[in-house]
Amino acid sequence: MSKRDCKLILALDMPERNSALSMLEKLRNDLEWVKIGLQMHLAYGANFVREVASMGFKIFLDLKLYDIPNTVASAVRSLEDLPIGMLTIHAEGGREMMSAAAGAARQTNPDLLLLGVTVLTSFDEAGLAETGVCLTPAEEVEKLAKLAVDSGLRGLVCSPLELEALRKILPAQTKLVTPGIRPAGGDANEQKRIMTPALAAEKGSDFIVVGRPILAAENPAEAAREIISQIS
Ligand code: C5P
Repeated sequence: MSKRDCKLILALDMPERNSALSMLEKLRNDLEWVKIGLQMHLAYGANFVREVASMGFKIFLDLKLYDIPNTVASAVRSLEDLPIGMLTIHAEGGREMMSAAAGAARQTNPDLLLLGVTVLTSFDEAGLAETGVCLTPAEEVEKLAKLAVDSGLRGLVCSPLELEALRKILPAQTKLVTPGIRPAGGDANEQKRIMTPALAAEKGSDFIVVGRPILAAENPAEAAREIISQIS
C-alpha cells in the first residue's frame, strides 16, 4: 500500500491543567493535534478545550459517546460552539445512533470528523462472548467498521494491527486513527498490541495517537519531532 499522509496526535492524558498547558507550550511549534479525553474533559470541561484550541492546536475530543440516538445526537449538537475537529462515538451504539450523530454533526459542524470506536482493545474473545458477541474480536471489528461507514461515519479508531484488514474493506477515504503506537525500542507501558510509527503509517494510518512516549520524554518536543520524522 502506498504511504498516506499520516499525522501525529498527542494524547494529553495528564491529571492537572497547568502542567498540561506547560507541556503544550513546549510542543507548540511541532504539534498540530491534541487529544483531550475523559480525564481532562471531566475535570476541566469545555473551557479547557477552548484554552487548548486558542493556543493554536486542533482538538480531538475523545468522549466515546454511547446512548440512545436522540441523546447522542443532542450531545453532538451541544458541542456546536466548541472548536473541535474530531469526536468519538461507540460503533456498538448501532446504525440508528451513528446515523443520528452523523446527521447532527453535518448540521452543526460539517467539518467535524466523527470517529467510530469499534471493539475496545481491552476485549479478548472470552470477554466479548460474555457480552453475547460470538465473533472473534477481529470479525467484530470488521462488522462494526462496515456498519459505522454505512451509517455515515467518515472515520474510525482502530488498533494498528487492524489497519491492513480494514483498508481492504473500507472506502479509501475513510480516516483511520490508531493508538497503541510505540517508537522502536521504547517502553511499551501496558500497551500490548503495538506498532512503530513508521509501520503504522506504512499500513495506512491517517493519524497516530501517542501519549506517554512524548509526555514522559526528557525532551517532549524532540520526541514529537522524532516521531513526526518517522511518519513523514
Ligand atoms: O500513552 P499512550 O500512547 O499509551 O496513550 C494512548 C492513548 O490512546 C490513550 O489516551 C488511550 O486511552 C488511547 N487508546 C488506546 N487504545 C485504544 C483506544 C484508545 O491506547 N484501543
